[in-house]
Amino acid sequence: MSENSFGRLFRVTTWGESHGPAIGCVIDGCPPRLELSESDIQPWLDRRRPGQSKYTTQRREPDQVKILSGVFEGKTTGTPISLLIENTDQRSKDYGNIAQSYRPGHADIAYDLKYGIRDYRGGGRSSARETAMRVAAGAVARVVLRKLVGPQLTIRGALTAIGPLSVDRCRWDWSETENNPFWCPDAQCVEGWTGLLDSIRKEGSSIGALVEVVAEHVPAGLGAPLYGKLDAEIASALMGINGVKAVEIGEGFGVVPLKGQENADPIRHAISGTGPHFLSNHAGGILGGISTGQPVVARMAVKPTSSILVPVPSINSAGQDVEVVTKGRHDPCIGIRAVPVAEAMLACVLADQFLRNRGQCG
Ligand SMILES: Cc1cc2nc3c(=O)[nH]c(=O)nc-3n(C[C@H](O)[C@H](O)[C@H](O)COP(=O)(O)O)c2cc1C
Repeated sequence: MSENSFGRLFRVTTWGESHGPAIGCVIDGCPPRLELSESDIQPWLDRRRPGQSKYTTQRREPDQVKILSGVFEGKTTGTPISLLIENTDQRSKDYGNIAQSYRPGHADIAYDLKYGIRDYRGGGRSSARETAMRVAAGAVARVVLRKLVGPQLTIRGALTAIGPLSVDRCRWDWSETENNPFWCPDAQCVEGWTGLLDSIRKEGSSIGALVEVVAEHVPAGLGAPLYGKLDAEIASALMGINGVKAVEIGEGFGVVPLKGQENADPIRHAISGTGPHFLSNHAGGILGGISTGQPVVARMAVKPTSSILVPVPSINSAGQDVEVVTKGRHDPCIGIRAVPVAEAMLACVLADQFLRNRGQCG
């Protein structure tokens, strides 16, 4: 049994491989009569596109999206929206050396163990090339949220650590994320990250990172207890991104040393008189699996890229022990390009949960 779809009412199915002719997705369940054009999607894809700095893979793809169905005279029709991106910079020869050997840390061996066959070109279906379609679907989810919730709902992401170097949260400035190649919200951190990644690149190695995504002005009430909790679905969506090894909501693993009174977010009546006012947000905007109206905050730890120039022991399909060195074009820090992907996954979950909540609660 295969699983290439996610979401319940806003349902996204992706298809395609790294080195096939194209990748695509089908979004089923998008509400009708929403204005949608390629220009709503393309800017988000441009944020994820490779080759924008020396700190991401040098694969050069314009990632030009085409809407093939589901939109008529500039509006969604309620029928499946099909999106397509052509692959234009495949270089299969880069991967000849991994055709028979397994990259340690990558999905090669697991695909062979499961399917007994694998498209080794660029990692095939396990390549993060597929995440372009998640970003495209996320752009459509943003259109749904903008129209049905309002423009005040924002979904933003940032890189908060590369290796041992973390941002100083006191200097957090969202506008800074647009001023450097790392989506870093702390301007003073950028120089250190640059030096670190330059030396990692020279070694032919890679390094891990931490990504944070925040959705603000999320209406209270999203989330479907008990088995469709908002936090559970966000965790699943983020954990499903290639290379993600841990997800936290709100205080996350930080709850361990806390006492109850430190972790509980005190509540007062809002001065405006409408609704509650929380004095802190350890919960990450979600209680009982339901959004409270506070910012929804999630973090994900992204592993160091496994395709590296440093030799790592492995085996080949002929049964020999080998040393694997992966030539080709790779992200020295996956976390950087994972930021727009994390934002997109959060957008898809929120759009889906919004529609489900509307279905049950009106
Ligand atoms: C945006 C993005 C870019 C990635 N680029 C690479 C890459 O250049 N080389 C690589 O080995 N892995 C890369 N990965 C990670 C692999 O796709 C991932 O490690 C692989 O599919 C195995 O899955 P797993 O790490 O979740 O077990 C990238 C992941 C993301 C999200």
